[in-house]
Amino acid sequence: MKDLTAAALRYKHGELHVLDQRKLPGEVCWQVCKHENDLVALIQGLAIRGAPLLGISAAVWVGHCAMRGDSNEQLTNTIALLRASRPTAVNLMNYLDRLQKLVDSGADRFLLSDEVEAIFDEDVALCAAMSEHGAALVAQGDSILTHCNTGSLATAGAGTALGVITAAHKQGKNISVWVDETRPLLQGSRLTAWELEQADVPYQLICDSMSAGLMAAGKVDRVMVGADRIAVNGDFANKVGTYSLAVLASHHHVPFYVVAPATTIDRHCNDGASIPIEQRNADEVRGASGSFGSCIWSPAGAPVYNPAFDVTPAELVTGWILDSGVYTLDDVIAGALVSI
Ligand code: MRU
Repeated sequence: MKDLTAAALRYKHGELHVLDQRKLPGEVCWQVCKHENDLVALIQGLAIRGAPLLGISAAVWVGHCAMRGDSNEQLTNTIALLRASRPTAVNLMNYLDRLQKLVDSGADRFLLSDEVEAIFDEDVALCAAMSEHGAALVAQGDSILTHCNTGSLATAGAGTALGVITAAHKQGKNISVWVDETRPLLQGSRLTAWELEQADVPYQLICDSMSAGLMAAGKVDRVMVGADRIAVNGDFANKVGTYSLAVLASHHHVPFYVVAPATTIDRHCNDGASIPIEQRNADEVRGASGSFGSCIWSPAGAPVYNPAFDVTPAELVTGWILDSGVYTLDDVIAGALVSI
């Protein structure tokens, strides 16, 4: 398989390296995957994360296994293991199902590795297309609020919502960004703030609970977020806290956009109620950990509810910015997402 390079993933000389996002921004540390269990642990620990990159990293590992000569039975087992590593982001299932179909059809290792290279290159192109469609909606001087991390750390290319934001900045639109810190795992303050600094985009970090006051004060022109799974009726799951932003945006008449590639659509999922939502470890809510160390601030055994995602209903979405264009609620009701 050819060498592949993204901001948070490298496949070089037959080895898969992933940037350990748990350690950012304090430390830039790459981890080598030597076994599928390494990759599962890195995925479950959120060292590697973001809907598209979860699927791409799993696909690259399967391509690697094919090229080292794993049998079809071994490949099928590896695909099943990786497919179950995180439940909500459907890009993981979509890409692995694509590879399983090839395995089932008796494709040789070269066809499998070609498919993995195509998956990688396609995601770069999907990001570029979303950035172009989305940046066209951004007005001069806009203040854009975003949640979680949806940039180059989450994809093979420029990102989804953050890709749009950085594209609008490159177009000279003089934008500024409100970055939700994104409790409990702080993807906003650790990763999005880091990416925006690198891209020289003006931003201010806020606690998640500050967005209501900002919208009431007229300081947010639009909200742009990513997605982990979009149902065909337009409901979508994204990092927990997205739904409250959508309700707030609707109340304050702030346009609310979701930015995602076609690989985030689940054509078997009719509505948001059918999206599986990952429950995570209680200590993530009892405190925090990262490159700064670990800290628990609640009573040690405090009972915790920790869904990693929530579902935003379609009627709260102003537009779905996909790689194929921008879709309205009327388009979605007419079945646009079924036929993409
Ligand atoms: O738990 P994470 O960090 O993998 O969650 C990521 C998100 O929710 C992103 O918003 C989503 O994957 C879209 S990324 C391009």
